[in-house]
Amino acid sequence: MSPEDTSIGRAVRFLSDRFPVDKLSFAALVGKKEVPVHKMSWAYYLGGLVLFFFGIQLTTGLLLLFYYQPSVSDAHASVDYLTHDVAGGALIRNLHAWSCSAMILTLLVHLLTTFAMKGFAKPREVTWLSGVALLIITFAFGFTGYLLPWHQIAVNATKIGLQSIEQVGQYLPGALATLPTRLREAIQGEPSVGQATLSRFFAIHVVVLPLFTMAVLGLHLLSVQIHGMSQGVDRPADKTERFFPFFVLKDLSLWGVVFFILATIALCVPFESFFSFPLFEPYDPLGSTPDGIKPEWYFYFVYYPLEMLPFWLVNLVMAGAVFVLAAAPRIFRGTGRQTLRTLAAGAAAYLIVMTLFGHRIYAMVKGGH
Ligand code: HEM
Repeated sequence: MSPEDTSIGRAVRFLSDRFPVDKLSFAALVGKKEVPVHKMSWAYYLGGLVLFFFGIQLTTGLLLLFYYQPSVSDAHASVDYLTHDVAGGALIRNLHAWSCSAMILTLLVHLLTTFAMKGFAKPREVTWLSGVALLIITFAFGFTGYLLPWHQIAVNATKIGLQSIEQVGQYLPGALATLPTRLREAIQGEPSVGQATLSRFFAIHVVVLPLFTMAVLGLHLLSVQIHGMSQGVDRPADKTERFFPFFVLKDLSLWGVVFFILATIALCVPFESFFSFPLFEPYDPLGSTPDGIKPEWYFYFVYYPLEMLPFWLVNLVMAGAVFVLAAAPRIFRGTGRQTLRTLAAGAAAYLIVMTLFGHRIYAMVKGGH
């Protein structure tokens, strides 16, 4: 058996096919890159747009840190002070909140379009897998950030979220059954959501997740540049466009327009005006849990099914969906783009219906009206 046929040899070949060292030069990564021009070309701008929103999150997040106090006694007051007394504070907070929503929305469209265009296929498995990791990281950003202002809804919603982790235990066999409880305890840090939880969520939100994101994003972008844009449609494009400077300039112009729209919305529309709960009701450990507590809109796709269907079923389906996403390069190796487009459209329809009409469906199922 030659060394290349051993498992180490195969692993090295897999990696050197995906990260050819001779392509690690500016000329190969940027200078020679061409972007196909066809009817789905607009989708090639989505990843860059997610990158832009991530940049806004990092910048505004750093500015918020100048005032935010991660303690149960001061967190709420510090956010209140920042919003009402610091010049530009409300704008920075609004930008952070609107850009978070915009990032998640764009990220989901990016995922669905790259799936529909078969962007996950060989040699782009690493791009895809790092993308799946970025999706999970982004949802973790949303979950941990929500607790930080330490208001009534945030703390209670976090409690419910953490309890659902624990609930998974009852469906696991043997020693595994205690794992979710231990995980919840590790995240929570004390018997009830309190200072230890806030400290952990703060550390995860502002240090752990940004560091992870930068590492995984670096891999994602390097792998995109090495392999160039995938063809995307069934018939190879007749025309291509130089990535540098033409595509990059268009990317930057789009970011400029989007920044203008985002800043206008953040200046004129306070984020919480879209929610039925007043944001600034500080958490009261002795108070009762407010009625109708809901997570942020980007968790509705799992929240409403959890309210209506058996817990184990929803968890099984979600775990299955994550598995299918992660294994997409293998599962859909031989699948045509027409089928992939149909699957992506089905997933998009589900996400849209559950996010926009989940509350009505829930009212119909539960209330019979
Ligand atoms: C923080 C999150 C993310 C950022 C900043 C990001 C950024 C980018 C950028 C700049 C590109 C190149 C331009 C484009 O094709 O749109 C790209 C390509 C790609 N991304 Fe992402 N991405 C993220 C998450 C994801 C996720 C969640 C997935 C899917 C699971 C994904 C899958 C892909 C694939 C397959 C490509 C290659 C597309 C092609 O070659 O046609 N990305 N990404």
